[in-house]
This record gives sequence, structure tokens and C-alpha cells, in this order.
Amino acid sequence: MEEVFKPICVEVNDVSYHRMVKTSVSLLDFIREELKLKGTKKSCDNGECGACTVIMNDELVYSCQILAVQANGAKITTIEGIATNAKLHPIQEALIDEGAVQCGFCTPGMVLAIKKLLEEYPNPTDEQIRYGLAGNVCRCTGYVAIEKAVKKAAAVLRG
Ligand code: FES
Ligand code: FES
Repeated sequence: MEEVFKPICVEVNDVSYHRMVKTSVSLLDFIREELKLKGTKKSCDNGECGACTVIMNDELVYSCQILAVQANGAKITTIEGIATNAKLHPIQEALIDEGAVQCGFCTPGMVLAIKKLLEEYPNPTDEQIRYGLAGNVCRCTGYVAIEKAVKKAAAVLRG
């Protein structure tokens, strides 16, 4: 079958990109293969693990479940847009401090999910943390260290 291409314009981490994309390409593959932003991970590629999580128009999304053409006009933040001036974000620092990064495969998506969680709940309860991170699977840490890191980052961000 003949491939169909369409033009899209997206803003990723405050940079505008104009590209022709195959209409069948996922936003995840567009981010990783076209923009070469490899921090967003590809794991299940089926909407089940959260490794591919990005923030699109202020909402958490699984980028494997969205076509790149559906992101036309969107503003997207990936893990590469989280650290500023070569300084890790407090969420990243807290995850490292609490030993909540092991293989690290879930970490980019987890960081973005924690960022949205703490925007909504600056001082989250255990239940809010668990509910907020329910879409992000970690196969290594057992989540206890991640929950501690969320509370630590929340305290830092609250000042
Ligand atoms: S890679 Fe997208 S949800 Fe698993
Ligand atoms: S640190 Fe390995 S999957 Fe979370």
C-alpha cells in the first residue's frame, strides 16, 4: 500500500519542528527517530507500561498511542525538556537520592508523571501518589523508593 505523508508542526521542549511524516507513524517513533530525542522510551508500544509518557498540551499521554499527525500544532514536553541549564530537576534529584532509579527504563516517563502529579497535588497523600503513578510501570524498584522520592521532591518544590 502506498505510504501517505502529511506536513506537521509541533513544538517540542520549546523548539518548533516542521516535518513531513508518514500518517502511520506514532508520536513516539517521531520523537525518537525523526527528532532523535531518545530519552522517551519504547517498551510495550501498546499503551500498557507508560515508558513512552510525554506531556502534550498539558496532559500526560502515551506517545505510542498517538499518531504523529494527531500531534500537529501541539506543545510537547519530553524528558529532555525537564532539566534546565544542565541542572537536574528536583524530581530527578530526588529519584536518584532515594535509589529509585535502577535500570532506568521507566524513569523518563515516571519523571513526567510525577511532574504532573505535583502540579495537581503539591503535597500528595500516599493514595494520590499511587493513583497518579498507576499508569507508569516500574519492574525494578517495587515503588517504595519512588513514593519516597515523590514526597522528597514535593517538599523541595514547595520550598
Ligand atoms: S511504550 Fe507506550 S505505553 Fe508502553
Ligand atoms: S527502574 Fe527499571 S523499570 Fe523502573
